[in-house]
Amino acid sequence: MARLAGKIAFITGGASGLGAAIARAYVAEGASVVIADIDREGGEALAAELGAARFVYLDVTTEASWAEAVATCERIDVLVNNAGITTLGSIEDVTLAQFRHELDIDVLGVFMGTQAALPKMKVHGGSIINMSSLSGVKASANLVAYNAAKAAVTLMTKSCALHFAEKGYGIRCNSVHPGAIHTPIIDKVLAQSDDPDALYRSFVDVHPVGRLGKPEEIAAIAVYLGSDESAFATGAEFRVDGGASI
Ligand SMILES: NC(=O)c1ccc[n+]([C@@H]2O[C@H](COP(=O)([O-])OP(=O)(O)OC[C@H]3O[C@@H](n4cnc5c(N)ncnc54)[C@H](O)[C@@H]3O)[C@@H](O)[C@H]2O)c1
Repeated sequence: MARLAGKIAFITGGASGLGAAIARAYVAEGASVVIADIDREGGEALAAELGAARFVYLDVTTEASWAEAVATCERIDVLVNNAGITTLGSIEDVTLAQFRHELDIDVLGVFMGTQAALPKMKVHGGSIINMSSLSGVKASANLVAYNAAKAAVTLMTKSCALHFAEKGYGIRCNSVHPGAIHTPIIDKVLAQSDDPDALYRSFVDVHPVGRLGKPEEIAAIAVYLGSDESAFATGAEFRVDGGASI
């Protein structure tokens, strides 16, 4: 039985990494997928490969881009606010411009996306899945901007969940908190480091299971949250992190 049959899912950052893995899993479970990304080439290639998917250009940091992208959708059942970046650095290293850029994408992107999709979703209900992180519940000295951004997503999710429940919209809103998952974002973080090997080992070491996660292991929780199986789950933190947050 296809667990997402008949559902239309809008996935930000869908061209790469976790977003691409979620798009793949959603199509396999019967959903129609909109891959929304600034990476036109990657997004179009993935959409062509998957079949029941199309690409739409979206820069999550501008309201105009959100309005245009959402206007191409007749209906949205599942919004996956997944696009994100990771800025490496402590409070003494990160510049104001870097901190603002991190918040623009990882926090304001989720805020604007939820506002933009809401009118299409509240007519029939649905599911909003916000990609937070282990770093949204656990601090690291060298992730000050990312910690601030992902913690904001954790609580924004709960505020939205309460509002949707009070209004009776039938929209649930949950956050997903992956540990380190080997995707291009990890390579980008390693590239910012003076000692990439030591940093990689430190990523492995925070996971009691002794390894990084796989994108499919995050896509699996996104399938559950996008499907009607999760009808009673809202405002919750889904930690999929090899035990790293324990
Ligand atoms: N990989 C991990 O270890 C990990 C762990 C915890 C949380 N996360 C979160 O998961 C999400 C996806 O990460 P990933 O590992 O797949 O990274 P990734 O770098 O592979 O993919 C991120 C995608 O977001 C897109 N993107 C970036 N800026 C954008 C913008 N302004 N507008 C639209 N799209 C934009 C990129 O083009 C890319 O396709 C992020 O929010 C990240 O913080 C990742």
